[in-house]
Amino acid sequence: MFENLRETMRFRAPTLDSVERGLERAANIDDLRRLAKRNLPGGVFDYIDGAAEDEIALARSISAFDDVLFRPRVLRDMTEVDTSTTLLGRSIPFPFALSPTGFTRIADPGGELTVARVAAARNLPYSLSTMGTRSIEEVAAVSDGPKWFQVYVWKDRGLVKEMINRAAASGYEAIIITVDFATLGRRERDIRRGFTLPPKLGLDTILDGLRHPRWTWDFARSEEIRFANVVGTGDDRDGTKAVALGPFIDEQLDPSLSWDDVEVFRDLFPGKVMVKGVQDVEDAKIAASMGIDAVALSNHGGRQLDASPAPFELLPETVEAIGDTTEVLVDGGIRRGADIAKAVCLGATACMGGRAYLYGLGAGGERGVAKALGFLQDEFERTLKLIGAASVDELDAGYLRLP
Ligand code: FNR
Repeated sequence: MFENLRETMRFRAPTLDSVERGLERAANIDDLRRLAKRNLPGGVFDYIDGAAEDEIALARSISAFDDVLFRPRVLRDMTEVDTSTTLLGRSIPFPFALSPTGFTRIADPGGELTVARVAAARNLPYSLSTMGTRSIEEVAAVSDGPKWFQVYVWKDRGLVKEMINRAAASGYEAIIITVDFATLGRRERDIRRGFTLPPKLGLDTILDGLRHPRWTWDFARSEEIRFANVVGTGDDRDGTKAVALGPFIDEQLDPSLSWDDVEVFRDLFPGKVMVKGVQDVEDAKIAASMGIDAVALSNHGGRQLDASPAPFELLPETVEAIGDTTEVLVDGGIRRGADIAKAVCLGATACMGGRAYLYGLGAGGERGVAKALGFLQDEFERTLKLIGAASVDELDAGYLRLP
C-alpha cells in the first residue's frame, strides 16, 4: 500500500512533471508562448513578448507571412528531402539561425548557455548578444557549433574592439553589427510595469513572484545576473545594478554609429560580418558595396521603430539589388517552418528568430528550446514535402502565390 502511495505521490510530484506535461502537449511555437506566459512573471514575459508603442511592426512582421500562399506541386517523389543549406560558409541542417537576445537568463537560469548548447546540438548558428548575461568565453566553452557575436557599439570604442577580438580568439565565425539602435524603442509594456533589468525582487514584484514560484525560486537562487561581457570595466555598466533600459542605453551606447564604424569593425574581425537591422534597399546596397557578407532585414522584432516595414516584405527588392554578392536574411516574425520556406522561395539565404526560442526557454528551459527548434525544423521539412520541393536549392518564387 505504501509503495502504491509513494508511486502516486511521485506521479503527482510537482514542478518537473508539470513542465514536461506542458511540453508534451505543446504542438507549436504559439503553445510554447502560452506556457512561457504561464511560467514567467508578467514583467518578464512582457519584456520578451512585447514590442515598441502600438506593436504594429511586431504584428505585421508575423502576419506578412500569412499574406503569401504556396503553389504546391504534387506527385513528385518526396522520399528523400534535403533541408540542409549553406549560410556564411557553413553547412547547416535547415535555413535558420538564432537571433541575439540580451538578458536571456531572465527567462531561465540556464540562459545563454542552455540556448547555445541546444543550438550546437542541432548545428544551428547561435548569436550571443553584447547584452548577454554569459560571456563570449563562457558560451564558447559549451558550444562547438557555429557561433556569432552581436555587437552593440558602446561609447567606449576600446571596449567594443576588445570584445570583437575576444570573439575572434574564441572561435566565433561572424560578428553581427546591429544598426537599428540609435536609441531604445519605446516599449510601453515595460514602462507600465516599471520593468528594470535585472528584474528587481522587491515589494512591487513580490505578488507576481508568488504567482510564479518556480521562476522566483530559480531566480533567487541563481548567480547574479550581469552583462557578462562588460564586467569589471566600470562601476555602472556591467548590469549588476537594476536599471531602466532606456536611460541606460542612452548613456552607454553610441548614437553616432555610422558606416565608417562598420568599416572599422569589418577590418578588425577576421571572420564574416553581418549588418542586422537594415530596413531599406538603399542601405542594403551600401552594405553590399562595402563587402559585408550578409544583411539581416530586421526591425528588431518590432521593438524599435513601430512604423517600420515587415522584414519579409523587404525581401524581393533587396535580393534583386544585392542577392548576387551578399547573403540576405529575414529576421523577425518567424513562428512556423513554413515562414522560413516562403522567405527562401523569395531568395533569402536563411531566417533568424528570437522569440521562438525564448518562448521555449520560458516554457521549459533546455527541453523547451529543443522543442522550439524541433518544431521549426520539422515544419520546414514537412512544408518542402507538401509543396513538392526536394531540396532548399529548388525553392524559388514559382512555389508561391503572391498577393
Ligand atoms: C531582442 N533582439 C536583440 N537584437 C540584438 O541585436 N541584440 C539584442 O541584445 C537583442 N535583444 C533582444 C531581446 C529580446 C527579449 C528580444 C525578443 C529581441 C532582437 C532579436 O535579435 C531579433 O531581431 C528579434 O527577436 C526578431 O524577431 P522575433 O523572431 O522575435 O519575432
